[in-house]
Amino acid sequence: MEWKIGNVKIDNQIVLAPMADVCDSSFRCIAKSMGCGLVETEMISDKAIIHCNGKTREMLYMTDFERPLSQQIFGSTAESLKHASEYLCETVKPDIIDINMGCPVRKVALRGHSGAYLLKDSNKIYDIISTIADSVPVPITAKIRSGWDFENINAVEVAKILEDAGASAVTVHPRTKIQEYKGKADWNLIKEVKEAVNIPVIGNGDIKTCYDAKKMLDETECDAIMIGRGVLGNPWLIKECVDYLDYGIEPKKVSAEEKIGMIKKHCELLLKNKIDEDIAVVKMRKQASYYMKGLYKNAIIKNRIFQVNTKEELFDLLDNYLKEIER
Ligand SMILES: Cc1cc2nc3c(=O)[nH]c(=O)nc-3n(C[C@H](O)[C@H](O)[C@H](O)COP(=O)(O)O)c2cc1C
Repeated sequence: MEWKIGNVKIDNQIVLAPMADVCDSSFRCIAKSMGCGLVETEMISDKAIIHCNGKTREMLYMTDFERPLSQQIFGSTAESLKHASEYLCETVKPDIIDINMGCPVRKVALRGHSGAYLLKDSNKIYDIISTIADSVPVPITAKIRSGWDFENINAVEVAKILEDAGASAVTVHPRTKIQEYKGKADWNLIKEVKEAVNIPVIGNGDIKTCYDAKKMLDETECDAIMIGRGVLGNPWLIKECVDYLDYGIEPKKVSAEEKIGMIKKHCELLLKNKIDEDIAVVKMRKQASYYMKGLYKNAIIKNRIFQVNTKEELFDLLDNYLKEIER
């Protein structure tokens, strides 16, 4: 089902969550090839963008195939977030800019006073969103949590402030900062936010199957669903959600051959994006172990994956594994 964020048209209700060290251009392309309606980048700090060095340039790499794409940034002041947003619009031109208001990591939230720390300060939230929305031509969105802790659940209040300040959509991950990723996401809060604002609401948290996706849409009436951990090593979940939600098609089991093929494709995409082979292989060690989850003898193969240093070693290991399980 088509929907919009500002003037950006999105073909279906499946959104790839921003995930640090995961959602680079290669993984976003894979998500897109699975039919993902909107992909989001990993978060980048506003300061890194303003002082754009080689590593940041690499992180900002994006292709037209990924569009529509939302670039997520984090920071603690309206001024520097505005400068970073202007730089992005002049250079890589994302379709949407998303402000991180949920990251619980100590370095970001406590030391940097950004991410989930912003949930403590309504005036600052208003200032940040209105300043950026006034200065760049693309829609501005924010990704929030329930609140700082159980005594300070304020997602509904924050969402209203975001809307008043000019945000074009809000994503709700209904866990507190203190919870980090523990416990269950409180989907009731997504429903409460949806009832309180007129901008699109993207629901996030604990979607592991296409049935969970349908359940969240039905229970909360949110406009779209965002999937994070469920797609780690399992981008097929995106296609399963699109097929089930839009066409009622039931998912089928992904074979070992398909998984091995996807690991190779993922690695080739990293290299195509001009990532050095040693860096790409280190990145693929973790990604490959996600893909191998649930496969026969995966503990042994995962150990071996963490010892490979070249693409050839990785591909040989995977080919031999396939031969072994076919015997
Ligand atoms: C490895 C990893 C990296 C993440 N990085 C980010 C990030 O850069 N920005 C962000 O807003 N959330 C980040 N998150 C949170 C996810 O976007 C999402 O809100 C959370 O995982 C809950 O959704 P899920 O249950 O579908 O995983 C990250 C989560 C994981 C597991």
